[in-house]
Amino acid sequence: MTTDLLTKPGLFATLDDQPLDAMLTLLHRLRSDPREGKIDLGIGVYGDETGQTPVMRAVKQAEAHLYQHQTTKTYVAAEGDAGFIAALAPLVLGDSRARDDRFCGLQTPGGTGALRLAAELIARANPEARVWLGTPTWVNHRGLMQAAGLQVLEHPFFDKATQTLTFDAMMSVLETARGGDVLLLHACCHNPTGAEFTPDQWGLIGDLCARKGLVPLIDIAYQGLGHGMEADATGMRTVLDKVPEAIVAASCSKNFGLYRERIGALWVKAQTAQTALRARGNLILTARTMWSMPPDHGASVVRIILESPALTDLWRAELDEMRARLNSVRAALAAAVPALSTIASQTGMFALLPLERDQVVALREQHGIYMLDSGRINIAGLQSDNLPRFAAALEPYLQGDTHAR
Ligand code: LMR
Repeated sequence: MTTDLLTKPGLFATLDDQPLDAMLTLLHRLRSDPREGKIDLGIGVYGDETGQTPVMRAVKQAEAHLYQHQTTKTYVAAEGDAGFIAALAPLVLGDSRARDDRFCGLQTPGGTGALRLAAELIARANPEARVWLGTPTWVNHRGLMQAAGLQVLEHPFFDKATQTLTFDAMMSVLETARGGDVLLLHACCHNPTGAEFTPDQWGLIGDLCARKGLVPLIDIAYQGLGHGMEADATGMRTVLDKVPEAIVAASCSKNFGLYRERIGALWVKAQTAQTALRARGNLILTARTMWSMPPDHGASVVRIILESPALTDLWRAELDEMRARLNSVRAALAAAVPALSTIASQTGMFALLPLERDQVVALREQHGIYMLDSGRINIAGLQSDNLPRFAAALEPYLQGDTHAR
């Protein structure tokens, strides 16, 4: 290398420093904390009563089958495994929509890949479209939409102090949305709040989207962990039936425990079968320029499970156990900390505690309790042996006099 090359500012020197992602910073802090008895309520990964995230029994059996029968590792297709999409569609969309040719679907690398692909499709179809996010929402939603060049706007969704859904305020802000804008919703088990719409509210959201010409983009990342696979999709399906166009981004990370396999799916509902085919062509082209072909392992595992009635039963039974555990932890926490009674009626993996950042930091530093700075906890990080300790540490912080502790 000649020295005059080094005198010029390099390509990468022009980059700005970036703050570390909050989730990754928290993980790093947790792992380097030497204290015994730390309580990890950070990243959204299911933990059982022993704190483990085991490979699900049906997944293990499907993997054994795959090991014995898979004969090649050659590419599948840019749209992924058609058998996986065909098997998953009835579970996510319901039978009638899965057969409706106005819906087209393809496999994506995780629910995140589905959301990113959705954002690219929206930007390709209408660069002026704006995406409405509820506050708060999953921390990655904003970045995923902006990465495709889309403008993001916000509507109020949840009041952390009172632990209530701000539905009327949300609807009145959404009255200012423009036709063609996109409304990003969580189908169930809202991340980070655990709050959910009533069936009537889902109906009103569907009506609003239809009346104003908004396109719902529905993130269904925790199906099965709230009330069950069917019940968790009911509100979303109400909206899908009311609007001519919609997008669904699904994930198998949580309900199949396949986090690291990056397995998800994207469906677009178009006005006609012909437009759906056009959307599909655009999705495939876009996917080709982002990841070319999605990873296969998780898709094969899910397909093998869903094509086998015995494995499907085994998977559903374990998913039921996971959901029952989450709900029993919610009930136990609500009973132990009366100020958090709303937690028992919320669903899924997350709750957003009414804590300020300094209180979250104090809980971490003084008690080894790790949660996101927003006050979000992963319910599944609590077990019967650490829950009383967590409740006792938390209680004074909910009295409102602990900022200086
Ligand atoms: C979470 O919110 O904790 C999960 O969805 C994991 C992630 O990537 O943020």
